[in-house]
Amino acid sequence: MASEQQIFDGTQEESSNPHSPSMHELEALTDKTILSHQDEAKIASTEFENIQKRYQDLIAKLPHAKGWFEKAPFIGYCGHWIIEPLLAGCLHAQDFFQARPVDFFICSYPKSGTTWLKALAFSIVNRSRFDDSSNPLLKRNPHELVPFIEIEFAFFPQVDVLKDKGNTLFSTHMPHGLLPESISNSGCKMVYIWRDPKDTFISMWTFFQKQKFGSGPLNSLEECFDMFCLGFSGYGPYLDHVMSYWKAYQENPNKILFLKYETMREDPLPHVKRLAEFMGYGFTAEEEEKGVVEKVVNLCSFETLKNLEANKGEKYREDIPLNAYKNSAYFRKGKVGDWQTYLTPEMAARIDGLMEERFKGTGLLEHF
Ligand code: A3P
Repeated sequence: MASEQQIFDGTQEESSNPHSPSMHELEALTDKTILSHQDEAKIASTEFENIQKRYQDLIAKLPHAKGWFEKAPFIGYCGHWIIEPLLAGCLHAQDFFQARPVDFFICSYPKSGTTWLKALAFSIVNRSRFDDSSNPLLKRNPHELVPFIEIEFAFFPQVDVLKDKGNTLFSTHMPHGLLPESISNSGCKMVYIWRDPKDTFISMWTFFQKQKFGSGPLNSLEECFDMFCLGFSGYGPYLDHVMSYWKAYQENPNKILFLKYETMREDPLPHVKRLAEFMGYGFTAEEEEKGVVEKVVNLCSFETLKNLEANKGEKYREDIPLNAYKNSAYFRKGKVGDWQTYLTPEMAARIDGLMEERFKGTGLLEHF
């Protein structure tokens, strides 16, 4: 197993498995150049299966590491650990997702505020289309309205939002370095949200406990925590994920807006205004006077969304089959510092130390 240092250096893939293919070999294996000329919509189902088979063959050759779930090992790909179906989805998105310059991306590590940002971005962009009673957010989970390029786009192209060519909002948990080339080639803008790794970890571990089927038993909190600190978590190492977008932001601050969950939770309004401005949908003075910003903030608040019928009780998304999580799983406590209920002071100190070391001298911590 790789050491902590190797993992945070991003060198674990080479060192943990001498047989892992190089970047060059990977590109050849995914046959990117040929496939990128094809239109996703035209791929027949047998072709889809052939492509998936090729991804599975590629994935079988990559390093495997123990996962948080008994039946879901992590696959090492370009310095990150991703479970198999999601990695296949990432490869599919890399090969077929064709971004347009108008498209906007909500990028995040899982459990760091994705659902909230999806709701906010949707409300901002569509505020003139809907009134207080007709907003689709009132009836549908935010994930139905903003598709993941490595999930819905890859596996459920039939969902309403993907059939709507007018939709410009997409999301991803992919680290910046793995994004489809068309996103940077088209000059698309994106927002990234990050969160205290302690709360991100707890949010993730408690979320996984709600999984209905699929991956077998979840390992203990202590075991998963150790793996998280060593960089073994879905789309991890977490700190590298944050850094991948931070570097991209520093290189191109006009194209990425960098947000932090805790800062937004403290006072969402100015950040929602910034987000709208950045997306090209800034609030007018008249809208501000009429309290439109407050309305968006309130509609997308944890309390409002959690208490909507669509996100309560036994409800599942109806637009995709076999959901492993109820809609309510996306709304737990929304609390800053809930890690204190679960982690010992020693565990907290370990993760804080790793974060300080990884972010030292990068300017990230001073940014917020
Ligand atoms: P907790 O598990 O700490 O409660 P993601 O959307 O990336 O999956 O992140 C989920 C986390 O965001 C969960 O955190 C969830 O409760 C919280 N969350 C969901 N909707 C929210 C909202 N509208 N405002 C604030 N936090 C929200």
